[in-house]
Amino acid sequence: MRVIVTNSYDEMSKEAAKIVAGQIYLKPDSVLGLATGSTPLQMYKKLIAVHEMVGLDFSQVTSFNLDEYIGMSPDNPQSYHYFMKHNFFDFINIKPENIFIPDGMAKDIDAEGRRYDALIEEKGGIDLQILGIGRNAHIGFNEPDIKFEATTHKVKLDDETIEANSRFFENESEVPRYAISMGIKTIMLAKKVVLLASGSNKAEAVYNAVYGSISPSAPASILQLHRDVTVIVDKEAGALLQKHAQQ
Ligand code: F6R
Repeated sequence: MRVIVTNSYDEMSKEAAKIVAGQIYLKPDSVLGLATGSTPLQMYKKLIAVHEMVGLDFSQVTSFNLDEYIGMSPDNPQSYHYFMKHNFFDFINIKPENIFIPDGMAKDIDAEGRRYDALIEEKGGIDLQILGIGRNAHIGFNEPDIKFEATTHKVKLDDETIEANSRFFENESEVPRYAISMGIKTIMLAKKVVLLASGSNKAEAVYNAVYGSISPSAPASILQLHRDVTVIVDKEAGALLQKHAQQ
C-alpha cells in the first residue's frame, strides 16, 4: 500500500485527479471504477477542468459505479445515477453507452448483480478503481460483516451509514435501507485501487484499513492484500497514521 497524506481536501483531490488523468493518457480505453459521495466530488471537478483545459479525452473510457440504492430510479435526485450525471458525466465526453451503474430498480437484484459482474469481465476488468470509505470502514456498500461478500449483491445498510447519508435527504427516514453494491472480490479484481478519505471522522477507518487486522468487520482492511493500492488522505483523515508512523 502506498499512503499519501496531503495537507487538505483540495490537495487530496488533485493527487487523485492526477492518477486518473495519467491512467487515461496512458490507456485511453481505460475501464474506471467510480464512487459517489462527498469525498470524490472535488476530484471530479478537477477532472472536468483537465478535460476542458487540455482536452483529457474520455471518449473511449468505460465506467462502472460501485453502487446504487435499491428502489431508486435514475432520475431521482438522490440516486447515484443522478449524482454521477450531474457531478461528472454531463461535463465530460464519455459516451452514455459506456457508463454502467447497478440498476437499483431491477426486479431480480441477484440477477442484476450477476449481470453487472459479467459485464465488468466482458469489458476486460477494471483498470483503476476509485473508492471512498465509510466511518465504519465500508467500501462500496460492503458493510462490516462476519464474512466478505464476493460479488455484486444486495446489501442492508448499517444504521451508521443510514445516519451518515441522511445529510443528503430531508430526514433519516427517507434514506433507503437497501442498496446493490459491487462485492469485495469485484473490487479486489481491479488492477489498481485508489482509496480517498477526508476529515477527522474517517481517521479511525483509514487507520483500520492501513494497519488494522484484515477482517470483514473492517471491510477496507482487505485492501492490504491488493498489490496496487494508493491511499490518499487529507491530514485530518490521516491523523492516526501519522501517530503510528512516529511510534
Ligand atoms: C459511494 C460508496 C461509499 C462512499 C462512502 C463515503 O459510492 O460506495 O462507500 O464512498 O460511504 O462517503 P462520503 O464520501 O460521502 O463520505
